[in-house]
Amino acid sequence: MGKDERHDLLTMPYALPFAGPLSIGGLTVDPPLVLAPLAGLSSWPMRMLSRRCGAALCFSEMVAAAPVARNLAQADALYALRTHPDDRPLAIQLFGPRADELAEAARKLSAFEADIIDLNMGCPVRKVVHSGSGCALMRDLPRAAAIIRAVRAAVKVPLTVKFRLGWAQDGNEGLELARICEAEGVDAITVHARTRVQGFAGDPDFDRLAEIVSTVKIPVIGNGGIKSFRDAEHMLRHTGCAGIMVARGARGNPWIFSELIQGPNTPGPTVAERAEVALLHLQWMLDLFPPRKAVLEMRKHISWYSKGLPLACDLRRELQGLCEPEQVRDLVERYFIEGN
Ligand SMILES: Cc1cc2nc3c(=O)[nH]c(=O)nc-3n(C[C@H](O)[C@H](O)[C@H](O)COP(=O)(O)O)c2cc1C
Repeated sequence: MGKDERHDLLTMPYALPFAGPLSIGGLTVDPPLVLAPLAGLSSWPMRMLSRRCGAALCFSEMVAAAPVARNLAQADALYALRTHPDDRPLAIQLFGPRADELAEAARKLSAFEADIIDLNMGCPVRKVVHSGSGCALMRDLPRAAAIIRAVRAAVKVPLTVKFRLGWAQDGNEGLELARICEAEGVDAITVHARTRVQGFAGDPDFDRLAEIVSTVKIPVIGNGGIKSFRDAEHMLRHTGCAGIMVARGARGNPWIFSELIQGPNTPGPTVAERAEVALLHLQWMLDLFPPRKAVLEMRKHISWYSKGLPLACDLRRELQGLCEPEQVRDLVERYFIEGN
């Protein structure tokens, strides 16, 4: 998809019943379609491919605040923070347990490249929760409020927070946290419509998401389980959320964003288009990472791009043994182009 086609996509009327563009503290996100933060995946190549297909805002993966606050130039997260001139607008997501470190990291990143600072208060991973970050903050709302206040005071760029419905089915922490965000001057929130106990499985609960949407006046971006136009339409009609964030549905499938813009009958990519995008993804990953690391990371992405191909199982088996970029290129050409 070239620049002209992207322009056509972005100026098309929405097939989804959005109320209008999403406005986040003066930043317009139009169409209101967002690529999620995805640790180990949503580096700039995946973000750029999602943008080409219509995502109007992309999130970095979560970045630990402490090393960035100490010394941005030496932070381990430098790969996650790398970007591209066309990778805009970009929300950089921070996580950490301490208000002072989060505020300092946010201040540095907002002066550097972040168009939006996002705070992660929804990560369920045990190590993160045990460190007092991510979902742990949903169980310590006074500390969550203190963090939001400190970061709000530290940055002028729009501030967003991403969290879940609550800890468990019977908890209402998400609703409380949404109110806190609004009171502390957060510009928009993303709510993953599952609980910490659910993790990443099970149905998202759109009733509880709708309750949050109707309680606060700041925009709510809905997230959870969006894999098709129908899923997004269902979420939007049920909740009235202001924007939609896609996570796993975009793995190997940036075209989901064009489907969400154009409607359920949008033709999917041809095998040749999938090959072209997989090879471009590889090329950009080689621009970002050393070759071995790029190949290792691309093994996951190529598996997702190959979903549904007649010989996808064979391709995945062969992929596991590959270390060199040339081998990956040959494999894509053999299975995607010659094999079809
Ligand atoms: C591999 C992986 C990495 C993720 N990394 C992050 C992250 O860095 N920050 C975050 O807020 N959420 C992260 N998430 C959660 C997603 O952003 C999203 O909230 C969740 O997957 C639900 O959306 P989905 O059902 O569309 O996948 C991650 C999810 C997955 C599967």
